[in-house]
Amino acid sequence: MTLKISVIGTGYLGATHAACMSSLGFEVIGIDVDPAKIESLAAGTIPFYEPGLQELLQSELASGRLSFSADFNTIKDCDVHFICVGTPQVKDGLAADLTYVFGALRSIAPIIKDGSLVVGKSTVPVGTAAKMREELLTVNPSTDLAWNPEFLREGFAVEDTLKPNRLVVGVTNDRAEEILREVYAKSLTEETPWVVADLPTAELVKVAANSFLATKISFINAMAEICEAAGGDVTVLAKAIGYDPRIGSRFLQAGIGFGGGCLPKDIRAFMARSQELGAQQALEFLREIDSINLRARTRMIDLVRKDLSEDLRGKKIAVLGAAFKPDSDDVRDSPALDIAVQIQGAGALVTVHDPKAIENAAKRFPTLGFAESIEECVAGADLVLHLTEWKIYREIDPTALIKLVANAIVIDGRNALDRDKWRNAGWKFRALGRSNI
Ligand code: UGA
Repeated sequence: MTLKISVIGTGYLGATHAACMSSLGFEVIGIDVDPAKIESLAAGTIPFYEPGLQELLQSELASGRLSFSADFNTIKDCDVHFICVGTPQVKDGLAADLTYVFGALRSIAPIIKDGSLVVGKSTVPVGTAAKMREELLTVNPSTDLAWNPEFLREGFAVEDTLKPNRLVVGVTNDRAEEILREVYAKSLTEETPWVVADLPTAELVKVAANSFLATKISFINAMAEICEAAGGDVTVLAKAIGYDPRIGSRFLQAGIGFGGGCLPKDIRAFMARSQELGAQQALEFLREIDSINLRARTRMIDLVRKDLSEDLRGKKIAVLGAAFKPDSDDVRDSPALDIAVQIQGAGALVTVHDPKAIENAAKRFPTLGFAESIEECVAGADLVLHLTEWKIYREIDPTALIKLVANAIVIDGRNALDRDKWRNAGWKFRALGRSNI
């Protein structure tokens, strides 16, 4: 008999997971405490931007396998329950806020059927899964809890869920592994690596992976600082070291650094947890990774002052990009928006453009100026900043754009524009980590 699955928490991770599990042929119910989210998903609209997800959601709803509800009782006879709620940074420290994961567990524990399996997917501090399992078993000893961390990237969420590069399951017994093998049977036939671990290792895999990615980015941004000081070019350096397969070329794009709802909060929560474990020395380096990352934003503003004026008051600055990365409308801890806000705070007149994230950016920072088109954004600008590397910005014709600005200076905060093309069109071109001659 086909498994019945529930997904608790229908944000980015949960909505994607629910639609993808349904596309594998399972009957899936998505649950959330936010009725507006449920209403929107049930009507076939995802309340955020993610390529391909809306289409998948609609076809799965039409198949009759996928449904959404705000009523927890609807999940009573599901066999597997995925917990996909958020673990944001606490307001007064570095740690992760576990209110939602424990809230979800406590809502389902008394109602789920005997023998069912709860599977955590949220990113949590190591030790959380064991605590949750203990609590669950106290309520219903016939149930079980496993951990199955998620590695999906925003912008590639569907692809990463349906064709993951590995599946990691933290289990305490064979039965839990067998159920998860049934859930992921399709990926297993495609020879996706299957890693079986204990609960703490499974939790750690996730934060270790994100810490490694953050380290790679901050490493190349540290090299960018050195290149600037020494007159080198970080883009050439990254290319050259990336040819070594032991290093690899991905995540070596120097610029204004990492943001979003995952990398920054995950490395901070990891540091906080290491302190609780008495192993803080092991993760001291992550403090430096965080500092290098935040410094990239300051260095960008320094470059603005150097190329425009120490006094930014009244300067018209066009900002291309608000999302924390392209193909997303997510502005959580977005380096682009942070820079835009800081420049505005220094007195500049800032206008921001983004193909998808304007609505979210305006909700968060309503006092910034926003433009519907690139042309409107740069009209009369003293300086253009490229801060999120959307494809449409790489496709800009600098010869046409130069006619619209007051001063033809562009600073590439993502090292993604074609420098020669912009220079040949008459622009003064600056970038982080490249000799700015
Ligand atoms: C990240 C991880 O890549 C996923 O594997 C993980 O599942 C996810 O967090 C999560 O924990 O849920 P995501 O936050 O979608 O995914 O974004 P990334 O693609 O990792 O990019 C993070 C940030 O790093 C972006 O701001 C991006 O612009 C920046 N970045 C990335 C660089 O500055 N340079 C690079 O070379 C690559």
